[in-house]
This record gives sequence, C-alpha cells and structure tokens, in this order.
Amino acid sequence: MAAKRNILITGGAGFIGSHVVRLFVNNYPDYRIVNLDKLTYAGNLENLKDVESAPNYTFIRADICDYERMIAVFREYEIDGVIHLAAESHVDRSIKEPFTFARTNVMGTLSLLQAAKECWAGDYEGKLFYHISTDEVYGALDFNEELFTEQTKYAPHSPYSASKASSDHFVRAYHDTYGVPTIVTNCSNNYGPYQFPEKLIPLFINNIRKGRPLPVYGKGENVRDWLYVEDHARAIDTIFHKGKVAETYNIGGFNEWRNIDLVKVLVRTVDRQLGNEEGYSLPLITYVSDRLGHDARYAIDSSKLKSELGWEPSLQFEEGIEKTVRWYLENEAWLDNITSGAYERYYEEQYSNR
Ligand code: NAD
Ligand code: DAU
Repeated sequence: MAAKRNILITGGAGFIGSHVVRLFVNNYPDYRIVNLDKLTYAGNLENLKDVESAPNYTFIRADICDYERMIAVFREYEIDGVIHLAAESHVDRSIKEPFTFARTNVMGTLSLLQAAKECWAGDYEGKLFYHISTDEVYGALDFNEELFTEQTKYAPHSPYSASKASSDHFVRAYHDTYGVPTIVTNCSNNYGPYQFPEKLIPLFINNIRKGRPLPVYGKGENVRDWLYVEDHARAIDTIFHKGKVAETYNIGGFNEWRNIDLVKVLVRTVDRQLGNEEGYSLPLITYVSDRLGHDARYAIDSSKLKSELGWEPSLQFEEGIEKTVRWYLENEAWLDNITSGAYERYYEEQYSNR
C-alpha cells in the first residue's frame, strides 16, 4: 500500500477536527480515515453525521493518554500518518482546571508520539506525525508590533498555551532525538460551523438569538486574527501532503479584529439575518471583568506557507461571518442540543460499555 494512506486523526469530533475529517473522507476515498476521539464535552459526533457511513471512515472512542490503546490502534489500522488535533482547547477552562490541560495536551501528545515511535520502529519512510498547534505559544504582541513568524520565540502565558507549547517541544524532540518525521503548525483563531458555544463567536451568536448579555472581557480592545475553519482544514491538507518534515508553518488569515469591533459586526449580522433592525441587539453588550493574563494581541504572518506551499485563505471575513451566522441560525437544534447537555448524555449511554 502507498505511504500515508492509513490516517489517524485525533480530536476529529471537535470543531476543527470535524472539518479535517470531512475534507479527508470526501477528498481521499482510497485512504482509511480513523477518527479517534474521547468525546469530552467538546466532542460531538453530530458534527460528522454526513460522513459517518462512508466506507473509508472509522470512529474509535479512546483517550490519547491511554498509551496501550494507542499502540493497539496503530497496529490494528497500520497507521502511517497522524494528524493530531485532540486537545483541551479553551483558555478560560485552562485557568480554572490546568491539570486537565497538562494531562491531555502534554501527556496525551507524548503518549501518541511514543506509540508512533514504537510502532514505526525506525522505518520512517512515508510516515508523518503532524501536530496541530496554536499561535498562542508565541505569547502576546503589542498593538504596534510585527506579526508572529516561525522564528518568534515561545513565550506562552496561559495554562492552555503553556501546555500547547510543551507539546510542540515534545514533537520536535521526537524528531531531533529519534528521527520521527514530524511537522508542527501554529494557527490563529478559527471560526465557522460546529464550534463549541463557549468560544467568542458561537457564544455571542447564541446569546444574541436568546436575548442574553454579551460578556465582553475588559475594554474589548484585545486583538485576534480570525481564519475561517475550512481554510484551516485546506491548509492542513496542503501541509500534510506537501509540507517538509521537521518544518514549522504558521497559518493565519492576515485578518486582525479588536474584539469589540468584531462583536458589533456580529450583532449587526445576526440582527439582519433575524429580520430585526440592525443594531437592535447592541444594548446586550456588557463589559465584564477581564480574563486573567489576557493576551493583548495575536497576529500571524503566514507568508512562508504561501510562498513555499501556495496556500492562502480563500474567504473574505465579511463573507465568512455571514456564512457562519447563517449556519448557527439554521442549526438551532445543534446549538440547543449542546447547551442543554443532551448530546453528552446520549453518547455516555451509547459508548459507556465499549
Ligand atoms: P475542540 O475543543 O473543539 O475539540 C477538541 C477535540 O479533542 C474534542 O472532540 C475532544 O473530545 C477531543 N479530546 C479532548 N481530549 C481528548 C483526549 N484525551 N483523547 C482523545 N480526544 C480528546 O478544539 P478545536 O478548537 O477544534 O481545536 C483542535 C486543535 O486545534 C487543538 O489542538 C487546538 O489547540 C488547535 N487550535 C485551535 C484553534 C481554534 O481557534 N479553535 C486555533 C489554533 C489551533
Ligand atoms: O489563537 C488561537 C486560539 O484561539 C486557539 O488556540 C484556542 O484554542 C481558541 O480557543 C482561541 O483562543 P482565544 O482565547 O483567543 O478564543 P476565545 O473565543 O475564547 O476568545 C476570543 C477573544 O474574545 C479573547 O480575546 C477573549 C474574548 N472573549 C471571549 C469570550 C469567550 C470575550 O471578550 N468574552 C467571552 O465571553
């Protein structure tokens, strides 16, 4: 069998992972796509209804920290490519429960790396361990500073970014020490369908439709660089197939927004799509206490990815927000199911004995 055809995608039931799974299942019918996910509060198989019966798709419920299980999965499915997305991903949660983040993001990544090393046993031809990381490992920029490049020194601030930085270092260590073929990418803030409604954009869309307050942290002046999730999935596809082993690539949209400006665009878009007067929901904006250690600004320079591999974002932000708002308003049942916790109960019953 040709190389890199049996692909383990971890965290495929989450937000970005579900878009990556869908793209690979649809675009590569001759690959075997193994989606391995623990189904934490953030994992939701509803995100993958449209591909769940595809012949090249398999789902396994497992914890990446379970090393023996990872070995068994590598052996059973003859895994030769890994796209590792499974993680605890929400900064606010990491401030409240840092141990969970160290366990999954650091120890879980280490467990997968060790399984790859053991099972590939020095035969690295046609193998790849591709680790998906974040721009937050670079720390925070001033408002007038340059962008993050691949040369920016790591300076994580939150427990989340510290755990991701640590996992990135382990990935590189497995390349430098044992020769495991690895790639790391660091991406900016994603938005789009299927994002858990604890993150800014889906949380605020949900709150606007319910007429609830929109809690803007601090003065709302923090800046984030937003990328449509399908553009990230396309970048992952490009890098998985054409990226150079041992390289790092930054992924971003050159699309910086102050939180408060973004929230106002969001309010106007939701109001318009709901048939309300534009700006009707602006009074819902409520300034609340700032996030602890809130990073001022993230902004990614992704020119290396464009010049070396030809990837660039395809969607303008206005169009992306329009599409995103429409998706959440048309999929209210998905939102209601998650916010009521009904989906978690369902999967506990379905998978509790496996
Ligand atoms: P998410 O929280 O939506 O999904 C994470 C998935 O991982 C869930 O399906 C969850 O069930 C699974 N998971 C968690 N712990 C697990 C474990 N121990 N074993 C197996 N599965 C487990 O996250 P996301 O926003 O889709 O992010 C995916 C990846 O991309 C993460 O590594 C994150 O750090 C990175 N990233 C996210 C963004 C963003 O804006 N969301 C930006 C850059 C990088
Ligand atoms: O930069 C990439 C990172 O982007 C990813 O690695 C993370 O997994 C992802 O969660 C995201 O992190 P952020 O902390 O930037 O995303 P979040 O949606 O939580 O917040 C975006 C901004 O909005 C941030 O400045 C905090 C602010 N915010 C967030 C929430 C949830 C608010 O003002 N109010 C809120 O209620």
